[in-house]
Amino acid sequence: MKKTIITLLFSLIPVLGFAAGDSGYPLDPIETDHSDKASLQRGAMYYQNFCAGCHATQFQRYERVADDIGIPHDLMMASLMPASAKIGDLMINGMRKDEAKVWFGAAPPDLTMVTRVRGEDWIYTYLRTFYEDPKRPWGVNNKVFPDVGMPHVLMQLQGVQIDSCQGASPTERDPLTGEMICGLVVDPERKGSMTPAQFDQAMYDLTNFLSYSADPVKQKREGLGIYVLLFLILLFIVALLLKREYWKDIH
Ligand code: HEC
Repeated sequence: MKKTIITLLFSLIPVLGFAAGDSGYPLDPIETDHSDKASLQRGAMYYQNFCAGCHATQFQRYERVADDIGIPHDLMMASLMPASAKIGDLMINGMRKDEAKVWFGAAPPDLTMVTRVRGEDWIYTYLRTFYEDPKRPWGVNNKVFPDVGMPHVLMQLQGVQIDSCQGASPTERDPLTGEMICGLVVDPERKGSMTPAQFDQAMYDLTNFLSYSADPVKQKREGLGIYVLLFLILLFIVALLLKREYWKDIH
């Protein structure tokens, strides 16, 4: 009994600490929110402007996305779709896998389900941890995906980040102040159009959009759950009354 209680108590301790990517780099946790339509709309805008040229989300249609996240069809067609595409089309592009492989070393994978494969924290951290590395073909490397073939396509927004760790641990903190000792910092000479906080928000929105893409019915499903529970409560009352009725004459 004592053991059971101790085990139970331990299970109540919240799981602290950071999840780590394959590279062991600490991931920054986020809570995505599919009910935040404004965030999803901004995410869709970043996605279409900066990612859709190389990546597809081939299990999604423009129309479905527009309806789900509240973008009118005419606006979707005018500003978030290639001119040749129709509103009912799948969200694919003309990039050929074999050619892309030659250009980037690896073909850009489909991103519809990527937040489920990699995890939301991974994507959010990945998008924010490109840093300058002259040894790489595009001049940048990534902290959670070392030697990635993708260029830093958001450089104009984020600026150029420099790794101030130079091999030191990125998780180490100053014992007195609790501040990180080193990390990625935007080079003051090569700033982007956004501040670090604005860029974090933009990457949150983009990850939120990709998370929605991987599970477009999440909102509906969770909304439905309430009705299921209400139905069960109602059923319980009816069953209870029925039981009373049946046992009335026996007691
Ligand atoms: C210029 C083409 C290009 C653009 C634009 C681009 N990517 Fe990529 N991306 C790639 C390539 C190529 C890879 C594969 C890299 C590898 O495997 O080394 C990749 C890989 C990824 C991965 C890792 C997938 C995995 O699980 O391995 C993610 C996530 C990703 N891209 C997200 C994005 C997002 C979000 C955007 C928009 C901000 C974007 N990409 C824009 C070319 C691109």
